[in-house]
Amino acid sequence: MTDILIALSLLSGDFSRLGDEAARMERAGADWLHLDVMDGHFVPAITFGAQAVAALRPRTGLFFDVHLMIERPERHIESFIEAGANMLTVHIDAMEGDCLREALKKIHAAGKMAGLSVAPGTPVESVFPWLDALDMVLIMTVEPGFGGQEFMTDMLPKIAALRQELTRRSLDVIIQADGGINGRTIGLAARAGANCFAAGSAIFSSDNAAGAIARLRAAAKMAACQAKSAL
Ligand code: DX5
Ligand code: ZN
Repeated sequence: MTDILIALSLLSGDFSRLGDEAARMERAGADWLHLDVMDGHFVPAITFGAQAVAALRPRTGLFFDVHLMIERPERHIESFIEAGANMLTVHIDAMEGDCLREALKKIHAAGKMAGLSVAPGTPVESVFPWLDALDMVLIMTVEPGFGGQEFMTDMLPKIAALRQELTRRSLDVIIQADGGINGRTIGLAARAGANCFAAGSAIFSSDNAAGAIARLRAAAKMAACQAKSAL
């Protein structure tokens, strides 16, 4: 199983200087840069598109984890690949079967990683038929649309059920918990089986980003070890 990954969500960063924020968070030790793309349809907010991702690309060597909270994401796969995305995560709640198959094929054909996300109201079993074709499943632990929300603990059984299914089928798929991740909730998510954590406000609200990232990583590692030894 992949090691613990901290994906820094830029959504809570200073939008007047996102390039500087991305470079700062790379220096602070983030593993991935989590880029929340919102279209004002799938979620109420609008954030940024492929052009902004392309502008960020030369500013950091971080892995670009692009979270597409948009309707009909299959129409935008090429532009985000072109912009420099490394992982493209689409919402199963925003797609039908054939479009999803097409999108995953396009992403892998370009040598990129493919993720599938479930919003809080969508059963985790909806991604089970797709697991063989995925590199990651993103479990939303807040309602998609904005940062700084409370972690939804009722999402923990979804993470556990997904980890159980991946273990049963010996699939090495990353489980990302996204939303409300802080020093306390990251342990809950890691114990349930998540190994990647998208965090924004918990890091941007700290005056020491490197310390905040290190503390999150340590808390996740500790919880994952405890979960393993409890087996
Ligand atoms: C919410 C986004 C999350 C969010 C995380 O729709 O998908 O990535 O930005 O931000 P925090 O860590 O503040 O909950
Ligand atoms: Zn996100």
